[in-house]
Amino acid sequence: MSTTVTKTAGVGGAVSDAVIAVSGLTLRFGGLVCLSEVELTLRRGEILAVIGPNGAGKTSLFNSLTGVYVPQEGSITLNSVDGNTHSLLGRKTHVVNRLGLARTFQNIRLFAALTALENVKIAAETRQKSGPVGIMLGLPHARRNERESDRRAHELMEFVGLGGKINELASSLSYGDQRRLEIARALATDPQVLLLDEPAAGTNPTEKLELADLIKHINRELGISVLLIEHDMRLVMSVADRVTVLNFGKVIASGTPSEVQRNRAVVEAYLGAEMAAEVLDAGPSDTGVAAGAGVAGGADEGKAAGAVGGEEER
Ligand SMILES: Nc1ncnc2c1ncn2[C@@H]1O[C@H](COP(=O)(O)OP(=O)(O)OP(=O)(O)O)[C@@H](O)[C@H]1O
Ligand SMILES: [Mg+2]
Repeated sequence: MSTTVTKTAGVGGAVSDAVIAVSGLTLRFGGLVCLSEVELTLRRGEILAVIGPNGAGKTSLFNSLTGVYVPQEGSITLNSVDGNTHSLLGRKTHVVNRLGLARTFQNIRLFAALTALENVKIAAETRQKSGPVGIMLGLPHARRNERESDRRAHELMEFVGLGGKINELASSLSYGDQRRLEIARALATDPQVLLLDEPAAGTNPTEKLELADLIKHINRELGISVLLIEHDMRLVMSVADRVTVLNFGKVIASGTPSEVQRNRAVVEAYLGAEMAAEVLDAGPSDTGVAAGAGVAGGADEGKAAGAVGGEEER
């Protein structure tokens, strides 16, 4: 593994504030520009939502952060809690994970034939140092590590609210529980940053509320910075400290939820210019005029709710 570790202790201001800094990130597939000069900062300890219409490049951004895609231009920097700085561009997925990034997937990826607990335990074991030989031979340190993984997996199952379902097959869990299980599995690798790709997709309204609480707990109690891709605007607005908006691979806005929901470019991205003008020019801004656009969520999901509520799996 090539190493790109440098010390950043003492670096002040915006840089040390950022746990992940993305700059000038451009990703192309042949002639298709999927991400174009993307700038994004995840501040340490915050929940940053990444929103945008279908095909905007949100999942591709996650894939670029986690080594699945290798962008042609730009930089991705992780400022680790230990004071080291790592370039994540082009790193192997397991290396990125070991450096402290864990993710869930838009399409749930669990071991369907294993129990819920086993799914989490496997992830916890990746943090342990025992190799397969040590485990096979039942060496003392391997047994100790296995006990520790088991303990950690039980603890995380409780934490995500699945304590009563540890022995159920992953495939037999409800959709909402499977999404929680994916989160537990990601947490088992002890991340400093958690990337959630549409964690509420396919869940019912009660599950969405519970999920919002869980995301806040992860952020506040475990001190994990969260990057959240989500189409459900009510969820985004209730949990995010800031929002970055992508459209056709470009960042078109970044700001607090209330700034973004009133941003003309954002409303236009969802509604088209004509309807955006109608919505934005219609009412006083402090009532969240974009609520009707579905961008703001709130009580009235309005005309374009479908445009931002697409939850199809890729
Ligand atoms: N491996 C790939 N090869 C070619 N094109 C790709 C690849 N991955 C993504 N794309 C294209 O990049 C664009 C962005 O896709 P991406 O999945 O990142 O969008 P998204 O914002 O996550 O959308 P959604 O909200 O529907 O999940 C799309 O046009 C998609 O077809
Ligand atoms: Mg996606």
